[in-house]
Amino acid sequence: MWNFPLFPDQASSHASSIDALYFFEWAVAIFFSIVIGIAVVVLAVRYRSGSKVDRTNPPTHSQFMEAIWIAIPFVIGMVMFAWGAILFYDMYDPPGDALEVSVVGKQWMWYIQHAQGRAEINELHIPVGQAVKLTMTSQDVIHSFFVPAFRVKQDVLPGRYTSLWFQPTKPGRYHLFCAEYCGTNHSVMGGWVEVMEPAAYERWLTEGGSGPSMAEEGARLFLQHHCAGCHRDSVTVKAPRLEGVYGRPVPIQNGKDVSFVTADVAYIRDSILRPKSQVVAGYEPIMPSFEGQISETDLLKIIAYIKSLSGKEAVR
Ligand code: CUA
Repeated sequence: MWNFPLFPDQASSHASSIDALYFFEWAVAIFFSIVIGIAVVVLAVRYRSGSKVDRTNPPTHSQFMEAIWIAIPFVIGMVMFAWGAILFYDMYDPPGDALEVSVVGKQWMWYIQHAQGRAEINELHIPVGQAVKLTMTSQDVIHSFFVPAFRVKQDVLPGRYTSLWFQPTKPGRYHLFCAEYCGTNHSVMGGWVEVMEPAAYERWLTEGGSGPSMAEEGARLFLQHHCAGCHRDSVTVKAPRLEGVYGRPVPIQNGKDVSFVTADVAYIRDSILRPKSQVVAGYEPIMPSFEGQISETDLLKIIAYIKSLSGKEAVR
Protein backbone atom coordinates (compact mmCIF):
# COMPACT_ATOMS: atom_id res chain seq x y z
CA MET A 1 0.00 0.00 0.00
CA TRP A 2 1.19 3.48 -0.82
CA ASN A 3 1.56 5.21 2.48
CA PHE A 4 4.31 7.75 2.29
CA PRO A 5 2.94 11.01 3.67
CA LEU A 6 5.21 13.93 2.86
CA PHE A 7 3.14 16.23 4.98
CA PRO A 8 1.63 15.90 8.45
CA ASP A 9 -2.12 16.35 8.94
CA GLN A 10 -3.46 19.88 9.11
CA ALA A 11 -5.03 19.60 12.53
CA SER A 12 -4.94 23.08 14.05
CA SER A 13 -6.35 26.47 13.20
CA HIS A 14 -2.85 27.64 12.24
CA ALA A 15 -1.95 24.73 10.05
CA SER A 16 -3.40 25.79 6.71
CA SER A 17 -2.24 29.40 6.90
CA ILE A 18 1.28 28.31 7.82
CA ASP A 19 1.29 25.82 4.96
CA ALA A 20 0.09 28.53 2.57
CA LEU A 21 3.06 30.73 3.47
CA TYR A 22 5.37 27.73 3.27
CA PHE A 23 4.17 26.81 -0.22
CA PHE A 24 4.41 30.41 -1.37
CA GLU A 25 8.07 30.58 -0.30
CA TRP A 26 8.65 27.19 -1.81
CA ALA A 27 7.12 28.30 -5.13
CA VAL A 28 9.24 31.46 -5.19
CA ALA A 29 12.37 29.39 -4.59
CA ILE A 30 11.45 26.87 -7.31
CA PHE A 31 10.54 29.61 -9.82
CA PHE A 32 13.82 31.48 -9.46
CA SER A 33 15.85 28.26 -9.40
CA ILE A 34 14.34 27.33 -12.75
CA VAL A 35 14.75 30.79 -14.31
CA ILE A 36 18.37 31.08 -13.18
CA GLY A 37 19.14 27.46 -14.05
CA ILE A 38 17.85 27.90 -17.60
CA ALA A 39 19.80 31.14 -18.02
CA VAL A 40 23.01 29.46 -16.84
CA VAL A 41 22.64 26.57 -19.28
CA VAL A 42 21.57 28.72 -22.26
CA LEU A 43 24.36 31.25 -21.78
CA ALA A 44 26.97 28.54 -21.19
CA VAL A 45 26.02 26.79 -24.39
CA ARG A 46 25.67 29.91 -26.50
CA TYR A 47 28.94 31.52 -25.41
CA ARG A 48 30.97 28.35 -25.06
CA SER A 49 34.57 28.48 -26.25
CA GLY A 50 34.77 28.45 -30.05
CA SER A 51 31.11 29.14 -30.74
CA LYS A 52 30.44 31.64 -33.50
CA VAL A 53 28.51 34.46 -31.80
CA ASP A 54 28.81 38.21 -31.88
CA ARG A 55 31.11 39.23 -29.01
CA THR A 56 31.51 42.90 -30.00
CA ASN A 57 29.98 45.60 -27.81
CA PRO A 58 29.16 43.48 -24.75
CA PRO A 59 26.64 45.39 -22.63
CA THR A 60 28.26 46.66 -19.43
CA HIS A 61 25.45 48.57 -17.84
CA SER A 62 21.66 48.74 -17.78
CA GLN A 63 19.86 50.88 -15.26
CA PHE A 64 16.57 49.41 -16.33
CA MET A 65 17.71 45.83 -15.54
CA GLU A 66 19.18 46.91 -12.21
CA ALA A 67 15.96 48.61 -11.21
CA ILE A 68 14.02 45.45 -12.05
CA TRP A 69 16.22 43.09 -10.09
CA ILE A 70 16.12 45.36 -7.09
CA ALA A 71 12.40 46.07 -7.21
CA ILE A 72 11.03 42.56 -7.75
CA PRO A 73 13.01 40.79 -4.99
CA PHE A 74 12.25 43.71 -2.68
CA VAL A 75 8.51 43.35 -3.21
CA ILE A 76 8.66 39.56 -2.82
CA GLY A 77 10.80 39.90 0.30
CA MET A 78 8.40 42.38 1.88
CA VAL A 79 5.41 40.15 1.10
CA MET A 80 7.14 37.26 2.89
CA PHE A 81 8.06 39.52 5.79
CA ALA A 82 4.59 40.98 6.28
CA TRP A 83 2.82 37.67 5.80
CA GLY A 84 5.20 35.93 8.23
CA ALA A 85 4.92 38.73 10.79
CA ILE A 86 1.11 38.59 10.77
CA LEU A 87 1.18 34.82 11.31
CA PHE A 88 3.85 35.14 13.97
CA TYR A 89 1.85 37.62 16.02
CA ASP A 90 -1.23 35.48 15.74
CA MET A 91 0.68 32.39 16.86
CA TYR A 92 2.10 34.07 19.92
CA ASP A 93 -1.06 35.75 21.11
CA PRO A 94 -3.25 33.19 22.86
CA PRO A 95 -6.96 34.02 23.18
CA GLY A 96 -8.14 34.86 26.68
CA ASP A 97 -10.42 31.85 27.00
CA ALA A 98 -7.69 29.30 26.25
CA LEU A 99 -7.64 26.11 28.29
CA GLU A 100 -4.53 26.23 30.46
CA VAL A 101 -2.27 23.20 30.67
CA SER A 102 1.10 22.93 32.45
CA VAL A 103 4.01 21.09 30.88
CA VAL A 104 7.30 20.10 32.51
CA GLY A 105 9.97 18.55 30.31
CA LYS A 106 12.62 16.34 31.86
CA GLN A 107 15.11 13.78 30.63
CA TRP A 108 13.32 12.02 28.98
CA MET A 109 9.62 12.57 29.30
CA TRP A 110 6.85 15.13 29.20
CA TYR A 111 4.92 15.63 32.42
CA ILE A 112 1.61 17.32 31.74
CA GLN A 113 -1.01 18.53 34.21
CA HIS A 114 -4.47 19.96 33.59
CA ALA A 115 -5.83 22.78 35.77
CA GLN A 116 -8.52 20.45 37.01
CA GLY A 117 -5.78 18.25 38.48
CA ARG A 118 -5.41 15.26 36.20
CA ALA A 119 -1.79 14.59 35.23
CA GLU A 120 -0.39 12.49 32.42
CA ILE A 121 2.95 11.50 30.96
CA ASN A 122 3.86 11.71 27.26
CA GLU A 123 0.22 12.23 26.37
CA LEU A 124 -1.86 15.33 26.11
CA HIS A 125 -5.63 15.03 25.99
CA ILE A 126 -7.47 18.10 24.74
CA PRO A 127 -10.93 18.92 23.42
CA VAL A 128 -11.38 19.68 19.74
CA GLY A 129 -12.21 23.28 18.77
CA GLN A 130 -10.94 24.71 22.05
CA ALA A 131 -7.89 26.95 22.18
CA VAL A 132 -5.24 25.44 24.46
CA LYS A 133 -2.40 27.34 26.07
CA LEU A 134 0.61 25.48 27.43
CA THR A 135 2.82 26.97 30.12
CA MET A 136 6.05 25.06 29.89
CA THR A 137 9.34 24.71 31.73
CA SER A 138 12.13 22.19 32.03
CA GLN A 139 13.54 20.48 35.07
CA ASP A 140 16.96 19.93 33.54
CA VAL A 141 18.12 20.83 30.02
CA ILE A 142 16.57 22.50 26.98
CA HIS A 143 13.79 20.51 25.33
CA SER A 144 11.38 21.56 22.62
CA PHE A 145 7.67 20.81 22.39
CA PHE A 146 6.81 20.00 18.80
CA VAL A 147 3.50 18.87 17.31
CA PRO A 148 3.91 18.79 13.52
CA ALA A 149 0.18 18.35 12.84
CA PHE A 150 -0.47 21.64 14.66
CA ARG A 151 2.55 23.37 13.04
CA VAL A 152 3.79 24.51 16.45
CA LYS A 153 7.15 24.16 18.12
CA GLN A 154 8.50 25.95 21.16
CA ASP A 155 11.67 25.49 23.18
CA VAL A 156 11.19 24.47 26.79
CA LEU A 157 13.87 26.02 28.96
CA PRO A 158 15.08 25.40 32.49
CA GLY A 159 14.57 28.34 34.83
CA ARG A 160 11.79 30.09 32.98
CA TYR A 161 8.36 29.68 31.44
CA THR A 162 7.66 29.58 27.75
CA SER A 163 4.19 29.23 26.32
CA LEU A 164 2.55 27.86 23.26
CA TRP A 165 -1.02 27.91 22.06
CA PHE A 166 -3.02 26.17 19.37
CA GLN A 167 -6.58 25.28 18.53
CA PRO A 168 -7.06 21.69 17.36
CA THR A 169 -9.60 21.36 14.57
CA LYS A 170 -9.79 17.59 14.02
CA PRO A 171 -10.22 14.79 16.53
CA GLY A 172 -7.43 12.25 16.33
CA ARG A 173 -4.06 11.20 17.65
CA TYR A 174 -1.07 13.29 16.66
CA HIS A 175 2.63 12.80 17.28
CA LEU A 176 4.35 14.86 19.92
CA PHE A 177 8.12 15.17 19.68
CA CYS A 178 11.00 16.68 21.58
CA ALA A 179 12.75 18.73 18.91
CA GLU A 180 15.89 19.72 20.79
CA TYR A 181 18.71 17.25 21.31
CA CYS A 182 18.63 16.69 25.06
CA GLY A 183 20.79 13.65 25.72
CA THR A 184 20.94 9.90 25.19
CA ASN A 185 17.25 9.21 24.98
CA HIS A 186 16.20 12.37 23.17
CA SER A 187 14.83 10.31 20.29
CA VAL A 188 12.32 8.53 22.51
CA MET A 189 11.15 11.69 24.29
CA GLY A 190 7.85 11.92 22.53
CA GLY A 191 4.27 10.88 22.77
CA TRP A 192 0.82 11.65 21.52
CA VAL A 193 -1.65 14.47 21.53
CA GLU A 194 -5.15 13.05 21.72
CA VAL A 195 -7.77 15.46 20.40
CA MET A 196 -11.19 14.41 21.71
CA GLU A 197 -14.80 15.47 21.39
CA PRO A 198 -15.53 17.96 24.22
CA ALA A 199 -17.89 15.57 26.03
CA ALA A 200 -15.34 12.76 25.87
CA TYR A 201 -12.70 15.16 27.21
CA GLU A 202 -14.91 16.11 30.17
CA ARG A 203 -15.39 12.41 30.94
CA TRP A 204 -11.68 11.77 30.60
CA LEU A 205 -10.86 14.60 33.04
CA THR A 206 -12.86 13.02 35.83
CA GLU A 207 -11.99 9.40 35.10
CA GLY A 208 -10.35 7.77 38.07
CA GLY A 209 -12.10 10.04 40.55
CA SER A 210 -11.79 13.75 41.03
CA GLY A 211 -8.56 14.46 42.87
CA PRO A 212 -7.57 17.93 43.99
CA SER A 213 -7.25 20.56 41.26
CA MET A 214 -3.87 22.16 40.61
CA ALA A 215 -4.97 25.24 42.54
CA GLU A 216 -6.06 23.10 45.51
CA GLU A 217 -2.74 21.29 45.54
CA GLY A 218 -1.11 24.70 45.30
CA ALA A 219 -3.05 25.91 48.33
CA ARG A 220 -1.72 22.94 50.33
CA LEU A 221 1.86 23.68 49.22
CA PHE A 222 1.31 27.34 50.09
CA LEU A 223 0.73 26.27 53.69
CA GLN A 224 3.41 23.61 53.69
CA HIS A 225 6.13 26.06 52.61
CA HIS A 226 4.86 28.59 55.16
CA CYS A 227 3.92 31.16 52.53
CA ALA A 228 0.58 31.69 54.21
CA GLY A 229 2.18 32.94 57.45
CA CYS A 230 3.15 36.23 55.81
CA HIS A 231 1.07 36.40 52.65
CA ARG A 232 -2.31 35.36 54.02
CA ASP A 233 -2.79 34.99 57.76
CA SER A 234 -0.42 37.55 59.21
CA VAL A 235 -1.93 40.29 61.33
CA THR A 236 0.98 42.66 60.94
CA VAL A 237 1.58 43.45 57.31
CA LYS A 238 4.94 41.97 56.36
CA ALA A 239 4.20 40.85 52.85
CA PRO A 240 1.80 41.83 50.09
CA ARG A 241 -1.54 40.04 49.91
CA LEU A 242 -1.90 37.92 46.83
CA GLU A 243 -5.64 38.15 46.21
CA GLY A 244 -6.26 39.75 42.85
CA VAL A 245 -2.58 40.23 42.12
CA TYR A 246 -2.36 37.90 39.13
CA GLY A 247 -2.32 39.66 35.78
CA ARG A 248 -2.20 43.12 37.40
CA PRO A 249 0.61 45.65 37.39
CA VAL A 250 2.66 45.59 40.58
CA PRO A 251 4.71 48.61 41.78
CA ILE A 252 8.40 47.73 42.16
CA GLN A 253 10.84 49.79 44.23
CA ASN A 254 13.88 50.63 42.15
CA GLY A 255 16.12 52.73 44.36
CA LYS A 256 14.19 56.00 44.52
CA ASP A 257 11.98 55.18 41.55
CA VAL A 258 8.91 53.03 41.32
CA SER A 259 8.28 51.05 38.15
CA PHE A 260 5.51 48.61 37.30
CA VAL A 261 5.69 44.99 36.21
CA THR A 262 2.79 42.72 35.36
CA ALA A 263 2.31 39.89 37.82
CA ASP A 264 2.31 37.10 35.25
CA VAL A 265 3.55 33.54 35.70
CA ALA A 266 7.15 34.61 35.09
CA TYR A 267 6.99 37.36 37.72
CA ILE A 268 5.40 35.08 40.32
CA ARG A 269 8.01 32.42 39.63
CA ASP A 270 10.81 34.97 40.07
CA SER A 271 9.23 36.29 43.25
CA ILE A 272 9.34 32.80 44.76
CA LEU A 273 12.85 31.86 43.60
CA ARG A 274 14.54 35.30 43.61
CA PRO A 275 12.37 37.34 45.95
CA LYS A 276 14.92 40.12 46.39
CA SER A 277 15.18 40.94 42.70
CA GLN A 278 11.85 42.76 42.34
CA VAL A 279 10.46 43.82 45.70
CA VAL A 280 7.01 45.34 45.82
CA ALA A 281 7.20 49.03 46.75
CA GLY A 282 6.61 49.63 50.43
CA TYR A 283 7.83 46.24 51.64
CA GLU A 284 11.17 45.15 53.09
CA PRO A 285 13.22 42.57 51.15
CA ILE A 286 12.87 39.98 53.89
CA MET A 287 11.46 37.02 51.99
CA PRO A 288 13.86 34.05 51.76
CA SER A 289 14.52 32.41 48.42
CA PHE A 290 12.93 29.07 47.69
CA GLU A 291 15.43 28.25 44.98
CA GLY A 292 16.10 24.52 44.89
CA GLN A 293 13.40 23.77 47.46
CA ILE A 294 10.32 23.55 45.28
CA SER A 295 10.08 21.31 42.24
CA GLU A 296 8.94 22.70 38.89
CA THR A 297 5.68 20.80 39.13
CA ASP A 298 4.98 22.19 42.60
CA LEU A 299 5.84 25.72 41.48
CA LEU A 300 3.23 25.47 38.75
CA LYS A 301 0.66 24.38 41.34
CA ILE A 302 1.48 27.27 43.67
CA ILE A 303 1.17 29.66 40.73
CA ALA A 304 -2.17 28.06 39.82
CA TYR A 305 -3.31 28.72 43.40
CA ILE A 306 -2.19 32.38 43.27
CA LYS A 307 -3.99 32.72 39.94
CA SER A 308 -7.13 31.23 41.43
CA LEU A 309 -7.13 33.96 44.07
CA SER A 310 -7.83 36.36 41.21
CA GLY A 311 -10.70 34.31 39.90
CA LYS A 312 -8.87 33.64 36.65
CA GLU A 313 -9.31 29.96 37.15
CA ALA A 314 -12.09 28.34 39.12
CA VAL A 315 -10.97 26.34 42.14
CA ARG A 316 -12.76 23.05 41.86
CU1 CUA B 1 13.99 16.46 25.33
CU2 CUA B 1 15.05 16.16 23.25
